[in-house]
Amino acid sequence: MAEDLCSFHMNLFILRPPKASPLLLRMIMLVFATVCGLYICSICLKQISSQSKSFVEVIHRSCDNYGMNPLRAPYVHYPQPQTFGRAECEGNPVRFFVIISMQRSGSGWFETLLNSHINLSSNGEIFSIRDRRSNISSVVRTLDRVYDLDWLSSASKNECSAAIGFKWMLNQGLMEYRKEILDYLNRKGVHVIFLFRRNLLRRMVSELANSYDRFAKLLNGTHKSHVHSLEEANMLSKYKPLINSTSLISQLKQMDLLTAKALKYFHDTRHIILYYEDLVKNHTKLLDVQDFLGLPHMKLTSRQVKIHKGPLEEHIQNWNDVSKVLNGTSYEIFLHKDY
Ligand SMILES: *[C@@H]1O[C@H](CO)[C@@H](O)[C@H](O)[C@H]1NC(C)=O
Ligand SMILES: *[C@@H]1O[C@H](CO)[C@@H](O)[C@H](O)[C@H]1NC(C)=O
Ligand SMILES: *[C@@H]1O[C@H](CO)[C@@H](O)[C@H](O)[C@H]1NC(C)=O
Ligand SMILES: *[C@@H]1O[C@H](CO)[C@@H](O)[C@H](O)[C@H]1NC(C)=O
Ligand SMILES: *[C@@H]1O[C@H](CO)[C@@H](O)[C@H](O)[C@H]1NC(C)=O
Ligand SMILES: *[C@@H]1O[C@H](CO)[C@@H](O)[C@H](O)[C@H]1NC(C)=O
Repeated sequence: MAEDLCSFHMNLFILRPPKASPLLLRMIMLVFATVCGLYICSICLKQISSQSKSFVEVIHRSCDNYGMNPLRAPYVHYPQPQTFGRAECEGNPVRFFVIISMQRSGSGWFETLLNSHINLSSNGEIFSIRDRRSNISSVVRTLDRVYDLDWLSSASKNECSAAIGFKWMLNQGLMEYRKEILDYLNRKGVHVIFLFRRNLLRRMVSELANSYDRFAKLLNGTHKSHVHSLEEANMLSKYKPLINSTSLISQLKQMDLLTAKALKYFHDTRHIILYYEDLVKNHTKLLDVQDFLGLPHMKLTSRQVKIHKGPLEEHIQNWNDVSKVLNGTSYEIFLHKDY
């Protein structure tokens, strides 16, 4: 019996190969083809995703034929506002943008520069009004009105706006509704301009001085966050804030973390990252912004005057404490002269 079984098995072994191998071969071929197919697919996907990752760069470089690039198609719009007609510019494409920033990072100055462009309207900090960000549907309704060109502000231009946007601070609902907002920005092809400040200590000085002035109203009894003359700037910078050196490091870390989070959350948008210090030092950066928004180049100007100029040492009451705390840390660089 055992022998029988054995020979039966042997028979199986002997008999099977000729019959089984075509099937086996076919299976192997099938598996092979599937694996190949998947591999090719994954390569394609990788290329597509790396293409969209390097989108900003690619488009940056080919700015002279921006109208022609099919990759840009979803990024241009032809809105039909309800409050007015676009007249002779009806056929001109419009791009949507948002400036994502933090208070006292130079975004006010940056926005006035942008608004000096004849084809650009940036409508200010529209989400500083709490009602507009009290829930996501309120946020979306507000955004829609801006991008339909139906938002009226002192910055609204005319029918020939080719770039329309506003300024959005990180603490104005942007992080709360980040998922829905990210989706909106990508769906509408909104160009994101991140504007941050490298020297967070200067930002802190500016913030403390600004909130002091809210109560002190140094300029003849009116509070001003931005000024247009040296005289006013000097008046405001007379106040030297006292910085809490105990909580300084942790406050700086918090600012750093918030910035990093924002960059991470909105990384998949079409974006450009700018630093205030670079804009101050290098005016070519403004051309980068105009290219990014597909605008014809213009010289951009602002009447705003910087409030805290010169060495930071002159603007902090307890400079010795502050420099002692930061000395030897990664934030030490903030103490040194930057412009
Ligand atoms: C910019 O505005 C000017 C004047 O309003 C208009 O003639 C021109 O077509 C606009 N350019 C773009 C790109 O929309
Ligand atoms: C959203 O907020 C607006 C304005 O504050 C309010 O009128 C509306 O009822 C809110 N909607 C929801 C769904 O909560
Ligand atoms: C404040 O008021 C004085 C006198 O009324 C005037 O000379 C000065 O220019 C004003 N300063 C500012 C910054 O408005
Ligand atoms: C400075 O910060 C520390 C830690 O956050 C806090 O306990 C302290 O009250 C602060 N000092 C002042 C003067 O605000
Ligand atoms: C100024 O900015 C331009 C464009 O971003 C860059 O190519 C150039 O190297 C910068 N110049 C300096 C001196 O940093
Ligand atoms: C920082 O620390 C070093 C060594 O501890 C010291 O020589 C230097 O003067 C300090 N700098 C400041 C700005 O306090």
